[in-house]
Amino acid sequence: MRKAVIFDLDGTLTRSEEGIWNCVRHAADRMGFPQPDADTLRKFVGPPLMYSFQTYMGMSEEQARAAVTAYRERYTRVGLFENRVYPGIRRLLRTLRREGWYIGIATGKPQDSSERIIEHFGLARYFDRIVGPDGVTNRSEKDWLIRHALPECYDEAWMVGDRCFDIEGGRSVGIHTVGVGYGYGSEEELRAAGCEAWVPTVDALIELLCPGAERPRGAFLSIEGLDGSGKSTQIGLLTDALDRWGFEVVHSREPGGCPIAEKIRSVILDTENVGMTAETEALLYAASRAQHVRQVIRPVIASGRVLLCDRYVDSSVAYQGGGRQLGVERVLDINAPAVDGTLPLATVYLDITHQESLRRRLAASAPDRIELEGDSFHARVEQAYRELIARDPGRFVVVDATRTPEEIGQAAAAEVIRRLVKEEEHG
Ligand code: TYD
Repeated sequence: MRKAVIFDLDGTLTRSEEGIWNCVRHAADRMGFPQPDADTLRKFVGPPLMYSFQTYMGMSEEQARAAVTAYRERYTRVGLFENRVYPGIRRLLRTLRREGWYIGIATGKPQDSSERIIEHFGLARYFDRIVGPDGVTNRSEKDWLIRHALPECYDEAWMVGDRCFDIEGGRSVGIHTVGVGYGYGSEEELRAAGCEAWVPTVDALIELLCPGAERPRGAFLSIEGLDGSGKSTQIGLLTDALDRWGFEVVHSREPGGCPIAEKIRSVILDTENVGMTAETEALLYAASRAQHVRQVIRPVIASGRVLLCDRYVDSSVAYQGGGRQLGVERVLDINAPAVDGTLPLATVYLDITHQESLRRRLAASAPDRIELEGDSFHARVEQAYRELIARDPGRFVVVDATRTPEEIGQAAAAEVIRRLVKEEEHG
């Protein structure tokens, strides 16, 4: 049975308001019109621009035409990429593909812009056809677009959209229609347009189209570095970048990440435990990791989301193997049953020297027991990290962490996203 689904783009697959609003503001400026308020801006997402400039901003047809030109000029340069993929959409597309669906897009956004957005976010391989106004015929009626986005033959077809235009278009073509509640149209608008089903979330949409489907695998990422390397800032920036791409990020940390492991964490980091031997420390880290891997990391990966962990087994190798001088091999051996083959797809290493780490630690307040270690300890930690990176260069994403946080963030995100998209291609 050949199943087909046609998606609207703005408000259904991607959240494009940032770019759209910036471009409407730009067009209003160019046309000498007052800046539209938030309510007016919101209405611009979805309907054809000519219609919106005339209806919502009171422009004449001629003014609207000039406004559209000003809008497009900025849009094709920058506005296009001021965009976000809704969380869960990547998982939806992977699930549909796996179940053999034909997938198309019917959008009021010009065809070439739509293709560039889909390409930009590494989603092109999911779509059989993308149809938007092509600049020649310039047809933008939704039913025409949907008809052209559909395959020649199908047994069952759905139109998925967030505005009444999508539902009306789907109905006039004679296919099933579903309205989505996370976009720009209200439930009331979609129901009044006669949608056959309405879903509040992407998860509900997956359940409607592919009931009971097995979830595609998510991914595991970790971030490492000497104390003071700026992990917290970079976790925030990386999360934002991944979120923009529609990856569903879950945070965790080691030692800790779940109640039992957090209890072990407090024992390890307690400044009163001065008598703790290096072996005890290494085994406690491994014990907390064994719990965390099974209770958090693996379930998150199985749920199709991306687990981003603040430190993982590399920290043990660096701090206990290098810093405490237990040796790299010994610490890897201790951790083998804890990790049990669960290794990150990518590990971001924030690269600073131990001298820089010391300088930054001295500037910070209330160091914990491990941070209180002398500089030779951190020199050995740095050395062990370097050894790990040399052993497994394919897993590490090494970034120079002495640059500005934004530069570091961009470098790390670009490479991590490249790997995540590549991983998706394998199923
Ligand atoms: P963390 O919570 O990352 O502290 P910070 O945010 O200050 O970097 O880690 C706490 C300390 O635990 C840190 O100094 C590194 C150390 N550590 C190990 O020694 N071995 C390990 O296996 C892990 C995960 C952390």
